[in-house]
Parts: sequence; C-alpha cells; structure tokens
Amino acid sequence: MIKLLFATGNKGKMKEIREILADLPFEIYSLSEAGISADIEENGNTFEENAVIKVKAVREALSHGDFQVILSDDSGLEVDALDKAPGVHSSRFMGEDTSYHVKNAELIRLVNALPEKPRTCRFRCVIAAVLPGGEILTTSGAVEGEVAYEEKGGTGFGYDPIFYLPERNCTMAELTQEEKNALSHRGRALQAMKEILKDKLHLDSKEA
Ligand code: IMP
Repeated sequence: MIKLLFATGNKGKMKEIREILADLPFEIYSLSEAGISADIEENGNTFEENAVIKVKAVREALSHGDFQVILSDDSGLEVDALDKAPGVHSSRFMGEDTSYHVKNAELIRLVNALPEKPRTCRFRCVIAAVLPGGEILTTSGAVEGEVAYEEKGGTGFGYDPIFYLPERNCTMAELTQEEKNALSHRGRALQAMKEILKDKLHLDSKEA
C-alpha cells in the first residue's frame, strides 16, 4: 500500500477522497490521523498558490519518507459580477466566524444591487500533490452556476444554498452528497489528480 496524506481536517473532504481513490492501493490519512497540527497561512493570490503553499508546509512538517504522496486543496466561490470575489477569501469573507446564513444574504444583496450584471458564478478547486521524487503538480476543477435569489436546501455547507445549478433547477444544497460529489469542483479536481497518480505511480484500478 502507498501511504497518502490529504492535508485537511475536513471530514467531508476525507470521505470524498476515500471514495474517489477507493480502487487504488492507497492508505489515506488526514492531518489529524497523521498526528500533524499545522497552522498554515494561506496568503497566496490564487487557489493554485494556496494549494501549493499548504502542500509544501505539510511536507516540511513531516519526517522524510513518512508519506509517499501528500495532497492538499484550496477552493472557493467566484462571483463574476463581483470581479470573482470572494474567491481565495471565501472562508474569510465577512470574517471567519460569521455564519454562512449572513454571508449568503450579503452575497445575494451585492448581486441584486447590480441588476445589469450576470449572476454567473463558479466553485473552483485546485489540488496540489507532492510525488515520491519531490515533484509538485496541480489539477483543477470547476462547476458553473448562478447566485440564487434566496437560500434553498439543507445539504452541503458554506455557499451551497445560494449556488443555483440551472441545468438541475436546484441549488447545490438540494443535491444529495453523492450527486454533489459527481459534479463538484473538488470531485473533478480529485478525478484529474487520480489519473495523474495512476500514471506517475504506474497503478492499475482494481477491476470491479
Ligand atoms: P477551503 O478550500 O476548505 O479553504 O474552502 C474555502 C471556502 O470556500 C469554504 O470555507 C467555503 O466558504 C467555500 N467553499 C469551497 N467549496 C465549497 C463547496 O463545495 N460548497 C460551499 N462552499 C464552498
């Protein structure tokens, strides 16, 4: 088995990566399962910069050879009418401790105040990896939507209740977790990373 560390403490993200990589010979650990508490300052200007900052910081916090593969992710919401805000500041928008109910109401208010602008937005995610030879590479995934007029749905987290998917006629928070994983920005970036890992580590998926 290949030991892989996914640099997150988020249980939902851990479940998603375990599902996506289930057919490959990886033993997957979260930061806490690996006994690492890293306070990493995400001060990059892009999702890619932040994902690489995280993966490098975790590599430095580890003893050499603990894990063959280290992954990290960075993600957020880009609203076109707001020049792609909140973007890399998605979790810090209006303050880390402000509820998403309040953040979502504010985003709706800001977009409603610009009726001449499109309501288009997207969730974007970049996954960064450190491979066994030290090579660092990234993959990205996005899902397109529109800022809804009101919050709807109770699944997911964060901005999901105001992320309207026109082709599904519902918000991200009205999908089941399984449906969300199949189309989400993170799911897409992870699938792309899975293909790279298979190629670079010469792995074959187990036949079902
Ligand atoms: P991080 O990548 O975990 O730092 O996520 C950054 C922030 O982007 C989160 O705190 C949310 O505000 C937002 N975000 C990222 N992915 C999603 C999602 O799938 N649904 C809702 N909000 C998200």
